Amino acid sequence: MTTSPLERAPITSATDIDLSDWDFWARPMAEREHAFQLLRDLDKPAFYAEPEVSFAAPGVGYHALVRHADILEASRNPEIFCSGSGGATNIVDMPAEFIEYFGSMISMDDPRHARLRRIVSRAFTPKMIKQFEADVETAAAQIVTDLLAAGPGCDFVTEVAARLPLKIICDMMGIPESDYRYVFDRSNVILGASDPEYVSDPAAIATSLLTAGMELQQLVQDLAAHRLGKPTDDLTSSLVNANIDGEQLTAQELGSFFILLVVAGNETTRNAISYGLRLLTVNPGQKALWLDDVDGRAPGAVEEIVRLAAPVNYMRRKVTRDHVMNGNLYKAGEKVVMYYWSANRDDRVFAAPYRFDITRSPNPHVGFGGPGPHFCLGAHLARREITVMFRELLSRVPQIEAGQPERLFSSFINGTKHMDCTF
Ligand code: HEM
Repeated sequence: MTTSPLERAPITSATDIDLSDWDFWARPMAEREHAFQLLRDLDKPAFYAEPEVSFAAPGVGYHALVRHADILEASRNPEIFCSGSGGATNIVDMPAEFIEYFGSMISMDDPRHARLRRIVSRAFTPKMIKQFEADVETAAAQIVTDLLAAGPGCDFVTEVAARLPLKIICDMMGIPESDYRYVFDRSNVILGASDPEYVSDPAAIATSLLTAGMELQQLVQDLAAHRLGKPTDDLTSSLVNANIDGEQLTAQELGSFFILLVVAGNETTRNAISYGLRLLTVNPGQKALWLDDVDGRAPGAVEEIVRLAAPVNYMRRKVTRDHVMNGNLYKAGEKVVMYYWSANRDDRVFAAPYRFDITRSPNPHVGFGGPGPHFCLGAHLARREITVMFRELLSRVPQIEAGQPERLFSSFINGTKHMDCTF
């Protein structure tokens, strides 16, 4: 249970901040920005005890990496800052029963990670990628047609932003339209379990996560069974039938990769699109600039949206041996949490970091992760989806504006659950 905003003391110095305290993540965005500014200005990263969760015991604690330079360095050195050993997507080590569903390559180190990424990347053939690109255009056009038919006042998140990535990832995997809602609800639970809208009882978080994981795994196993030996042209079929240099995914690997793709492909892009509309609404000058040259400005605008939206707030690594990085000591067994949202606002790298500037160049944001083996596998697809969605919106509904966003309560995902739109 979080305290009400009125009971919360203001943050005046870095010692007032505890990133493991759930209350911190309920604070308004302006307070969060101020807090991370204070943390970036410290001589060395703050160290925190791990958050309390019902399903796992806390470990030794973590350094909060909030500066761009630290995140680049840690991402580049995966043999020192590893992703395996308890999982990269959570601060507390994942219990063994979670690994079956959520232990895919994002939480592995080489050589296991490299093997999986190799098999999976080869399934993303140029032909398949070309097909996705055509599908994205058709789907975005239909969503905007439906928006115009529904009229102003609808929920932009559920009616527009969420629909595109959901349809694309489901089509890629061969999930029929009748199951979209099923996938949507389960991916909301997996990435939004801390929000009472998705899991109302905090004591039920662990079972809700495991149930959602099990149900998605069952879905892919049913799809896989149909494709085994009878290939179709979707990704599930390529993965089931992929036998690259004698390498093949096991049933468990296929299941957890499917969950990773469905969840990563859905929640992140949706949040970037919603955040993007909000940025355009509160920065009408930038919207006018984009409208002047919709296609020409799109690449810069999309990067700037991902920089400020930073839909994935953090990834975690475990330190494998004592190591000094940028002048600070990290001890074996400790963890580091890389706050991408903060690094993307680091004024050592970005001039006027809080300004939304679609012409910003260069824009070395870390919204898709830092340089290293885990750099987002879906970055190309995500950029494409955001570009096409805004092209449709700006050319067919240029007057569209976002209302106040209702934020997801989460420390991991910077999410918008609902947001009205007018036009
Ligand atoms: C705006 C949208 C997106 C954002 C902000 C985003 C962000 C990220 C981040 C921060 C990482 C982790 C990097 C690390 O640990 O170093 C990641 C990894 C990953 N993402 Fe994305 N992502 C997005 C869209 C997508 C999409 C559309 C897909 C799938 C189609 C996808 C699939 C993956 C996968 C499979 C990984 C794990 C890669 C690995 O461990 O080798 N992502 N993403």
